[in-house]
Amino acid sequence: MSSARSEAASGASRSSGLLDWIDARFPLSKMLKEHATEYYAAKNFNVWYVFGVLAMVVLIIQLLTGIFLTMSYKPSAEDAFASVEYIMRDVEWGWLIRYIHSTGASAFFIVVYLHMFRGMMYGSYKAPRELLWIIGMLIYLALMAEAFMGYLLPWGQMSYWGAQVIVSLFGAVPAVGDALVEWIRGDYFISDITLNRFFALHVIAVPLALVMLVVMHILALHETGSLGPDGIEIKQNKGPDGIPLDGVAFHPYLTSKDLVAIVVFLILFSAVVFFAPEMGGYFLEHANFEPANRLKTPEHIAPVWYFTPFYAILRAVPSKGLGALLMGLAIVALFLLPWLDRCKVKSIRYRGWIFKVALMLFAISFLALGYLGLQPATEPVFVYAARIFTALYFAFFLFMPVYTRLEKTKPVPERVVYHG
Ligand code: HEM
Repeated sequence: MSSARSEAASGASRSSGLLDWIDARFPLSKMLKEHATEYYAAKNFNVWYVFGVLAMVVLIIQLLTGIFLTMSYKPSAEDAFASVEYIMRDVEWGWLIRYIHSTGASAFFIVVYLHMFRGMMYGSYKAPRELLWIIGMLIYLALMAEAFMGYLLPWGQMSYWGAQVIVSLFGAVPAVGDALVEWIRGDYFISDITLNRFFALHVIAVPLALVMLVVMHILALHETGSLGPDGIEIKQNKGPDGIPLDGVAFHPYLTSKDLVAIVVFLILFSAVVFFAPEMGGYFLEHANFEPANRLKTPEHIAPVWYFTPFYAILRAVPSKGLGALLMGLAIVALFLLPWLDRCKVKSIRYRGWIFKVALMLFAISFLALGYLGLQPATEPVFVYAARIFTALYFAFFLFMPVYTRLEKTKPVPERVVYHG
């Protein structure tokens, strides 16, 4: 008995010896303390707070499966389509790796859209978290670029024509438009050269930027501190030990909560991967099972679902130039949120009804535009609906400085309200 105890003690001292050795050379314990065991977040985090961690999980899934796909994929117009078929049929577990990667792309946008919506509900973008929000928006832009370039790689019909439509949008830039389009494509049309450069950007440049931005995002978060659903700065109420009274340590209290979310997410994710990887043509479009053909335009070109709200805005106006401008502004408006919102209260819990209605209309218009972007623009009813929802989308931002200043808010409590 006593020898077992002394063995355990000597094991523990060996491991603390190793830790001391590392700590003298690298700030491991200091970092773990600062970012995990002594990082305090509001004790009343709800389910909306799991999507940041889930986005990290998806990022890791995408990086890992991407590495294995790259081992068998061939980035040339001649071989790309066939190499994807080869991965699906002949490479051991290739079908699984590809389906995880393609489902991961959609999952990424689902969790990121929910994560952003949480920020809008609880006012996480407001001072002092403006930069955290801006970094988040840069992540979102990088994610869109990553998904767009990845979609060209299978070299299917929708890869080709989708890229054709989106790249040609840059032609709407005054004066340099045509030259810009040619510069992006590297050719007079989407070709082998375009595929090669999109491959390089998709497998290294953008993922690298994404990882760096995510690190900056977390550093910015840990500088300002997390804002709970009450919109109360917990750092303003510290105990004599300097620990926020309404805070709990990220590890083990929130890591254990996050673990539950990760397991639930992985179950749902696997259900899609194994039972519905195409998701009825929403995650993998049917036209993309045909190789790219420069001489044959598909009957109906629509981007993947996560781009369709912006695609619907683009098509809502008759002029291509104005459509492209509006599409760009739809994203710029999100960047400006911290300055458009003039309300003193952060969380929706203590705001007036105007903001609640405005946010609901914004969410409805985003979803409706997403649906309309998937429909052919030939039906007048779809075109008119897209115009109405585009107007609603912009009204949310345009009138924000006015309605957020006017509305009556409720008093925000001093301390976090938590009913366990
Ligand atoms: C790869 C994508 C992303 C990853 C991995 C990521 C990761 C995280 C994590 C782990 C947190 C802390 C936990 C949480 O609050 O959920 C967080 C918080 C936050 N994120 Fe992100 N994020 C991503 C994208 C975005 C985007 C696109 C935005 C907005 C444009 C954004 C805005 C925020 C804000 C404002 C917070 C602070 C929330 C608060 O304290 O109330 N993030 N992010």
